[in-house]
Amino acid sequence: MNPVELARPEIRALQPYSSARMEARGGGSVLLNANESPWPPFACDRDWNRYPEPQPAALVARLAGLYGVGNDQLLVGRGSDEGIDLLVRAFCAADAILVSSPTFGMYAVCARVQGVEVIDAPLRGDFSLDVDAVLAAVTPAVKLVFVCAPNNPSGAGVPRAAILRLTEALAGKALVVVGEAYVEFIDPEGECRSLADRIGAIPNLVVLRTLSKAWALAGIRMGALLADARVIALLRKLMPPYPLPTPCIEIALRALADAGVCAMRERVATIRRERLRVSDALARCCCVRAVLPSQANFLGVRFEDAGRACEALRDAGVIVRDVRRYPMLGDALRVTLGSPDQNDRVLAVLRSLDGARTVSLAAARAGLPA
Ligand SMILES: Cc1ncc(COP(=O)(O)O)c(C=O)c1O
Repeated sequence: MNPVELARPEIRALQPYSSARMEARGGGSVLLNANESPWPPFACDRDWNRYPEPQPAALVARLAGLYGVGNDQLLVGRGSDEGIDLLVRAFCAADAILVSSPTFGMYAVCARVQGVEVIDAPLRGDFSLDVDAVLAAVTPAVKLVFVCAPNNPSGAGVPRAAILRLTEALAGKALVVVGEAYVEFIDPEGECRSLADRIGAIPNLVVLRTLSKAWALAGIRMGALLADARVIALLRKLMPPYPLPTPCIEIALRALADAGVCAMRERVATIRRERLRVSDALARCCCVRAVLPSQANFLGVRFEDAGRACEALRDAGVIVRDVRRYPMLGDALRVTLGSPDQNDRVLAVLRSLDGARTVSLAAARAGLPA
């Protein structure tokens, strides 16, 4: 099955823009084909006066090596957000996407911006993916099924077997897009590993990866979309000619070098240790109702009074994400795992809330004003 057959016919037929860089692939030392400045902006040894490579070969090769896919099965873009947007624009016109709420909001936003319908097959009460509900909700209009694994904002991992059931059942009907922004943080011995190793074998599987989380590069806006080579070729037609700024390409290559890989693994190990420590400590706070099991670099935390906890944290200079507007999370905040010191600050504020609550309960029992 050719997954591109699911794309919008006008995109499949589109004659893409041919950029000066692409046309000049043969080389040459005097570049007078892109209306660039012949001089750099200030004295420097960088060619910042030149447009960057549309898909920088060294970066594509390094990322493809790290993710275990072919160079032609990977597209580098400005974060995984760009991948989501490209997919919706390429595959959906008078069509639909399917999401399982509560989940990452950009799937629905990218669809709605394009006038594309969003169908919801909610997660189960324990935030696990309801594969049967997803399959029952898929209509012929659904071209993209988004699965966030681990899920944001709950943090729940998604077993590979569940996603593979979807790709199999939807072969020839829809692409299954797996948002793996947090996959580096999963417990390695679990069943929720990345599906990058199935790219190539499963034509309707797409995996979104990012350098914004474990790789600590949110500021340079860099992410990768892994898919069947025919899907990558199609999406390249939609991309602006020079999406990636040269300094960002240089920084990414530096962070992805062998030393950077070791540093990333150390950061991830620390976050995983903190995930355990902070979950345990939070579970012992009286103001906390429950800590959701997380495979990511954040914790979904249910509070007796989430508004009060959010305010107390803000008063102490700690900003967390208020996720009370999401279905099933009306009493919850999402707390990113920071450095051990930052996490201690969160715990100190919440323990002080516990202290205040103990005092007011004691006052109530003694018939005194709180
Ligand atoms: C599930 C998920 N996907 C994608 C993104 C965006 O990633 P990027 O920075 O690569 O655009 C986020 C950001 O929080 C996210 O939670």
